[in-house]
Order: sequence, then C-alpha cells, then structure tokens
Amino acid sequence: MILVTGGVGYIGAHICVELLSDGNDVLILDNLCNSSRITVERITVLAGARPSFIEGDVRNRPLLERIFTDYPIDAVVHCAGLKAVGESVREPLRYFETNVSGSVNLCQAMADAGVHTLLFSSSATVYGECVQMPIDESCVLGQPTNPYGHSKLMAENVMGSIARSDPRWSVGLLRYFNPIGAHPSGLLGEAPTTAPNNLLPYLLQVATGQQKELSIFGDDYPTPDGTGVRDYIHVMDLAGGHLKALDYLQRNSGVHTWNLGTGRGYSVLEMVNAFERVSGMNIPLKTTPRRNGDIAQCWADPGKAARELSWCATRNLDEMLRDAWRWQCQNPHGYEVDNLYPNTSEPEDVTMIRLVRSADALFRPNTTRDANKTIT
Ligand code: NAD
Ligand code: WQD
Repeated sequence: MILVTGGVGYIGAHICVELLSDGNDVLILDNLCNSSRITVERITVLAGARPSFIEGDVRNRPLLERIFTDYPIDAVVHCAGLKAVGESVREPLRYFETNVSGSVNLCQAMADAGVHTLLFSSSATVYGECVQMPIDESCVLGQPTNPYGHSKLMAENVMGSIARSDPRWSVGLLRYFNPIGAHPSGLLGEAPTTAPNNLLPYLLQVATGQQKELSIFGDDYPTPDGTGVRDYIHVMDLAGGHLKALDYLQRNSGVHTWNLGTGRGYSVLEMVNAFERVSGMNIPLKTTPRRNGDIAQCWADPGKAARELSWCATRNLDEMLRDAWRWQCQNPHGYEVDNLYPNTSEPEDVTMIRLVRSADALFRPNTTRDANKTIT
C-alpha cells in the first residue's frame, strides 16, 4: 500500500488515479486545508477503485504512528504542503512548520515503522535564479527567492541527509517545473480557493469572467518577447513520472533527484496566444511591472529522468491548455459545488453507477458562457 500525503490536492489526486489504475492500494492522508473531500469520489470514479482516506495532518505524530501501525504501507509519496509563494513571505513560520517540520515528522514516523521508501514533491524553485539553461540536476542550488522555496530546499536537505545516513532509505526528490492542465475527463483539476497567483489558473478565471484581465508581469525581460519563460508540464505527465520513480526506488537505495519538466519553455505571451487559439476565448491583457522575486526564464533538462526512469512528458501545450479549459468550464467554482455526489444516503454501487454516468456526461461540451467556443 502507498501512502499519499496531500493526495486530494491538485497534483496528489492525479497521482492517486494513476497509482490506483496501476493496481496499487492507496491510502490518502490530507487535512483538506486546500482541497475537498469530494475529490476522493472523483478519484474513485476515474480509477475504478477506491483509495482509503484519512482526514489528518502530517504534523500529527501520534496519528502518523497509528497509520503506520494500522496499514501495510510500503512507500510514501509526500505531496502535502503549502505552496503559495506570496503567502509564504507573509507567514514564513506556517510554511516552515508545514513543509519542513511536517516532513521531518513524517520521516521520523517512517523510520520508526521501518518504511524507507519516500518520494517527495519538490520544486524547480530550489534552483533559484540559475544562469544555465536548461537546468539539470547538477546545477548548484541557488538561493530560493522566498520562504516557500527555502522550505522546499530544507525539506530536500533533511531527506537527503537521512538517506545518506542509513542505506535502507530510498528517497526520490522530484523537482517539478510548472505543472498545469487537468485530468482529460474534466473531473480533476486545480481549484484555487482564493484569487490565484499562478499564470494558468488566473488566465482561466479571466476566460470565465471571474477576473477582469490578465496582468503580464513585465515585458522587459531578456527573453525573445520580453515576457517570462517557463517549462509548463501536463499534470498527467507529472503523475506518470511518480510511478516510474517509485518503481526505480524499489530497486535502488540512496537519494535520487529528477527534474520533471518537458525541456521546452514558453513565454507568457505564447501561453496567452495558445490559450486563445485552443479555447476561442479572448483574454484582456495589461502589462504591469515585474513581480518581485520572479526570474526571467526557467526550463528543465529532463534527460536524467529519461535515462534513469524511462520517463518523458508526452503531452503538448495544446493538450495542457485544452484539458485545463475543459476542467474550468465544467467546474467554474472548483469542487465547491458538487454536481456529482450530492446524495450520500444511496448505496455505494448506485452512487458509483451514477458517478460514472455523470462523468460520461461531463465529457460533453458545456460552458456557462458560450457553447460554440468551448473545446470538445
Ligand atoms: P495543493 O495545495 O493542491 O495540494 C496540497 C495538499 O496538501 C492539499 O490537499 C492540502 O489540503 C494538503 N495539506 C497541506 N498541508 C497539510 C498538512 N499539514 N497535513 C496534511 N495535508 C496537508 O498543491 P499541489 O499543487 O497539488 O502541490 C502538491 C505538492 O507539490 C506541494 O508540496 C507543492 O509544494 C509541490 N509543488 C507544486 C507545484 C505547483 O505548481 N502546483 C510546483 C512544484 C512543487
Ligand atoms: C509563470 C510566469 C510570471 C501570473 C511558481 C512558484 C514555483 C512553482 C510554480 C511551486 C511568470 C507570469 C504569472 C500572472 C504573469 N510552485 N505571470 N501574470 O512564478 O514560475 O512559479 O509556481 O513549487 O515555486 O514560484 O509560476 O505561474 O506564477 O508564473 O505574467 O498573473 O507567468 O511572471 O513569468 P512561477 P507562475
């Protein structure tokens, strides 16, 4: 059984679907601070198998001890964490407590239980402002530009140290570049609970009229069109990388670091243009000064993951944007309004049949704004 912390969050949910579909038993631990219990039902529909779910906190040591006693856990995928860069600047202690202390707590509980296989959701943010492009795993780690980035680097260091101290550990540090997109069913996706900070969630809300316009944070970077360049990766490709990494960790001990990116960068303007083409929507824009702490460009050398894991991203930018737009059209308020699981009193098999039918129905185009402009 695989324990997925943060398994009902944006990335964790996609990982759970892939793990279950691959025949693994999955236990999710999530305190729901940035997610919804409804996601468990949607994971079940999509995977055709139900994960076990515990609402709880990775900082709760007695709870973790009970979990490792009660469930036959072989490996842990650690996605639980806080991820809003701006919030981390305002509330650094909360970020260090969850992302660093929470990770230490989890590692201690794993060590006590004799579970030594751990895959961690790290971030390209640990590279800071890297001069070399593309970025490979041997790049000297820069100074992250915010407490969130520092917390990820600190957690990486903790996990690297324990793996080097005891040969029983197999630790994978997955440095995600910019995950976007959604499950192609439109049932799982990113559901910000406050005004989004990241480019794509914000752009999607502009497209549905929830935000007035998209600010382009600087058009004077030393990039081809002056706007920031990033390596966007489809969340389904990202999830697939976890299965490959877990497989590798079963066979190799020590600490291993892999970039998960496509190796291709797109500028903000390229993203907007591609989205307008794919969705048929018009995105009002305004140019503002650079955002504090932003870097000009960042894209991965994903060669190490290709060589060691036989993994590479296969979905292109159009697929990322099309899937994200489908998710947004079908869930304009995220998981807040559940049109799939309103009746909890019916028997589970009846619910499952209804959910599958609902999921099928949701594949059909449907938008609150303009059906003709919706992707199919
Ligand atoms: P998310 O907020 O959607 O998911 C995180 C999940 O962790 C949520 O369901 C939340 O409720 C849960 N959680 C938070 N604190 C917890 C705690 N103390 N105990 C138990 N559960 C807790 O975020 P995401 O985008 O899915 O990110 C998942 C991981 O990937 C995070 O660790 C994040 O730092 C990392 N990451 C994300 C991105 C990105 O752009 N989304 C990029 C690089 C790395
Ligand atoms: C992408 C580009 C912006 C919003 C952040 C975290 C990083 C990682 C991923 C977790 C940049 C521009 C954005 C907008 C814009 N998360 N932009 N207008 O900054 O690469 O990375 O998320 O680990 O740690 O720092 O992603 O999506 O915020 O920005 O012009 O409204 O879009 O300036 O060039 P970023 P992003």
